[in-house]
Amino acid sequence: MKKIVVLISGGGSNLEAIAKACQIGNVPATIELVISNQPNVKGLDRAKKFHLMSKVIEHQKFNSRDKFDQALLNQILPIEPDLVVLAGFMRILSKDFTDALSGKLINIHPSLLPDFPGAHAHRDAIAARASKSGCTVHFVDSGMDSGPIIMQKEVEVLSSDDEDSLAEKVKKQEHILYPQVIDLFSAGEIESP
Ligand code: GAR
Repeated sequence: MKKIVVLISGGGSNLEAIAKACQIGNVPATIELVISNQPNVKGLDRAKKFHLMSKVIEHQKFNSRDKFDQALLNQILPIEPDLVVLAGFMRILSKDFTDALSGKLINIHPSLLPDFPGAHAHRDAIAARASKSGCTVHFVDSGMDSGPIIMQKEVEVLSSDDEDSLAEKVKKQEHILYPQVIDLFSAGEIESP
C-alpha cells in the first residue's frame, strides 16, 4: 500500500474521488492525512465522511510563505508519504517545499497545460474561444502550474458553454484521471522526473 497525503483548499471533490478509489480497492493506496489551508471547507467534511485524518494549517496565520511551507512539511515528512497530492490546493509552494518532495508531488489543473495556467483556467479558455479544454496531472515544481506533465484528458468546449458548465465537464474527467494517475504511480508505471 502506498501512503498518500492530500492537500486541499476547498470543495474536495477530487479528494472524494481518490478516497473512493482507495476505499473500493481500485487504487492500492491509503490517504494518511488531508491538510487544508482553509478552515470550514466542504473538503474537510468529505475527509470526515471517509474517516480520514485531517488538519487545518491556515496560511494567514504565518507571516511568510516559507514559514507556512515549513509548517506543512513538519506534518507531511514524518509520514514518509510515497505521494503528496494537490487537489484544488490554491497556494504556490516555495522551492524548498517542492525540492523536499521532489518526484513525489503532483497537482491537477483544469486545463490542457501549458494552455491556461493560473486561477481562472475556464474563464481564460472560454475567452480564447478554445474548442478543447480538459485537465492535466503534472509533477509540481516551484512555478505556477508548471512541471512535467504526466497525463491529460480532453473535453470539448461548446459555444453554449460558460465557466460553470465547462468546470463541471472538466471535473467529471478529473475524477477519472486523478485516481488513474495515482494507480499508475503506485504500480511504478510513472517515472519521477
Ligand atoms: C479542480 O478543478 C482543480 O483542477 C482546480 O481546483 C478545482 C478543485 O476542485 N485546481 C486548480 O485550479 C489549481 N491551479 P475540488 O476542490 O472539488 O477537488
